[in-house]
Amino acid sequence: MSKRRATITAVGHWVPERKLTNADLEKMVDTTDEWIRTRTGILERRILDNGATSDLAVGALRVMLERRGIGAMDLDLIIVATISPDMFFPSTACLVQEKIGAKNAWGFDLSAACSGFPFALVTGMQFIENGTCKKVAVVGADKMSSITDYSDRNNCILFGDAGGAVLLEPAANDGEGILDHILRCDGAGERYLHMRGGGSLNPPTHETVDKKMHYIFQDGKSVFKVAVVKMADISAEIMERNGLTGKDVDWLVPHQANLRIIDATAKRMGLDPSKVMINIEKYGNTTAATIPLCLSEWWETGKLRKGHTIVMASFGAGYTWGAVLMKWTAENGR
Ligand code: COA
Repeated sequence: MSKRRATITAVGHWVPERKLTNADLEKMVDTTDEWIRTRTGILERRILDNGATSDLAVGALRVMLERRGIGAMDLDLIIVATISPDMFFPSTACLVQEKIGAKNAWGFDLSAACSGFPFALVTGMQFIENGTCKKVAVVGADKMSSITDYSDRNNCILFGDAGGAVLLEPAANDGEGILDHILRCDGAGERYLHMRGGGSLNPPTHETVDKKMHYIFQDGKSVFKVAVVKMADISAEIMERNGLTGKDVDWLVPHQANLRIIDATAKRMGLDPSKVMINIEKYGNTTAATIPLCLSEWWETGKLRKGHTIVMASFGAGYTWGAVLMKWTAENGR
């Protein structure tokens, strides 16, 4: 008997209305629209003024459930990938479960920063493959504005707020759904990308706040050098071990941290630039939300279609990185 595979049967995303443009940032820190555009590809981001990460997750989940034509009561499990949970505990998944009324679901949060979505997707997949769950909601949501220092020009230009969600269900046919994955981490990356304040290592004190330890710290140049190699390598590796060339892949769905990292990954995969999902210009880096946000936008405009072969790829704090290969099965959005 062939293996029971998991597949994505519905997608949804939600972003707050308020835009923070490069022109706005020019008024806040010593930067220029030109610098931001050429170094990152970002033109604007969305900011959630009232509410928390659970609200971003709930927004995305509601859209996803409606598109699939099911209710929250149908969910068995909710996994929320985030590094900006509403609070340490309870988990954001529990708060989301209550807000949407998913009374039959259990849930938990998963922390893998910008690789949060692929890590959560592969985790959720296990419960479909082993038969213990029929419907698993995997959410990537981050209110990055809550941990961003808007006086630090190195970082505040990069991040935005968003939520994205997918539904995992058993695939109907062989050779469909999530076919392969490679996930990796290397804790030596901690020193280059972290938020050290507020946890058990540095519980919150006046000193941790004065030292701005509850904000993202990133040594951008060091992270860039590793990210550009690792994300490209892992994407090439998953293609090679599945005997695929650039011609066989319909879409690269990359984490949106920097346009130059995305371009390097596509080049290494031998992909035509027209096959790369890019929306970094509209949203910046929304951490765990970037990949489901792309999937949802491309699906709803009819560009991501049933039968397409896609590679999702990510790199983030930890370091964490990963690639997921799948044959898309959700009925066409348009
Ligand atoms: N506006 C203008 N100048 C800025 C600036 C800003 N917003 N931010 C930094 N600079 C300056 C720096 O101070 C530096 O000046 P110096 O040379 O006088 O010291 C100069 O611009 C160049 O900085 P550099 O770090 O070389 O830029 P970069 O080309 O590496 O781009 C990032 C910076 C952050 C965009 C880039 O390094 C990056 O994307 N890093 C990886 C992000 C990532 O993948 N993270 C993982 C997932 S979150």
